[in-house]
Amino acid sequence: MSRSAGTDAPAKPLIVTDRDTLAAVLAKVRSDGQTIGLVPTMGALHDGHLSLVRRAVRECDFTVVTIFVNPTQFGPQEDFARYPRTLEADLQALAQAQADLVYAPTAEQIYRPGFSTFVDPPDVAQPLEGHCRPGHFRGVATIVLKLFHLVPAHVAYFGRKDYQQWRVIQAMAEDLDLPIRVEACPTVREPDGLAMSSRNRYLTPAERQQAVAVSRCLLHAAQLAAQGETRAAMMRQQMRDVLTRSGITRIDYVALVDPLTLTEVEEVHADTVALVAAFVGGTRLIDNRQLKE
Ligand code: PAJ
Repeated sequence: MSRSAGTDAPAKPLIVTDRDTLAAVLAKVRSDGQTIGLVPTMGALHDGHLSLVRRAVRECDFTVVTIFVNPTQFGPQEDFARYPRTLEADLQALAQAQADLVYAPTAEQIYRPGFSTFVDPPDVAQPLEGHCRPGHFRGVATIVLKLFHLVPAHVAYFGRKDYQQWRVIQAMAEDLDLPIRVEACPTVREPDGLAMSSRNRYLTPAERQQAVAVSRCLLHAAQLAAQGETRAAMMRQQMRDVLTRSGITRIDYVALVDPLTLTEVEEVHADTVALVAAFVGGTRLIDNRQLKE
């Protein structure tokens, strides 16, 4: 898509809501020999999302961002209904980031009457989020596979912020021979360390203060490892202590896992990944970091 030259305002991305138009535009892009980058999102975009978009724009000829709050990945007690929807602001941010096309379908288009086929996600989907949010990765894998078909991209970009999700998508792409490269991008954080998340906007000012402990408990684990500590059990306890001392008591998990299988380790290594999921007030936050990061 051509971008406006000689004007200050960035060219608006093409906004597409139906899949026939999407298919037609992308068939032309591909036949012109351009590479396509895909950034799947649920909208309510922040700088973390936009870092993925900027990387796609740098590395690919044509960048597609999808915005779809996917109902099948939310549990019945979760925040689907109140998940923030900020399409106008998202489109402005995406124009600024120079995305070429935004695909924002309706739920009716994605899950047409009679829809009943789901992806059975890989083993790496079992622990952690898989355990706490039954069915979540089934919904994620299904929508991502559908998006991979709807958007015939060469590369898809995911954030390490959702470390397990990235591993699930990577494993699915490998296991099912999907003709797409899956890339992971670093977690973008607020100045105090809190990982950016669309859900941060649920936090009250007091909760926002508390929330910094979520990233701080990961940093604490990294510091212990840097001092030579290797005993995972004692490190997990210390991570919990960091959370509880700040008043966070509803902890879904703190984990120190193998980066590929996501199984808990007894002794940590440089590549061990520390993960946390905890409620700050009513808001469930997740974060992770590699110990040697
Ligand atoms: P969403 O939460 O909107 O995130 C979209 C992408 O942005 C994901 O790859 C996520 O890991 C990445 N991301 C979010 N916060 C980030 C941060 N602080 N730094 C870097 N990247 C960040 O993840 C989903 O949507 C959905 O599950 C989806 C894959 C779109 C399927 O519905």
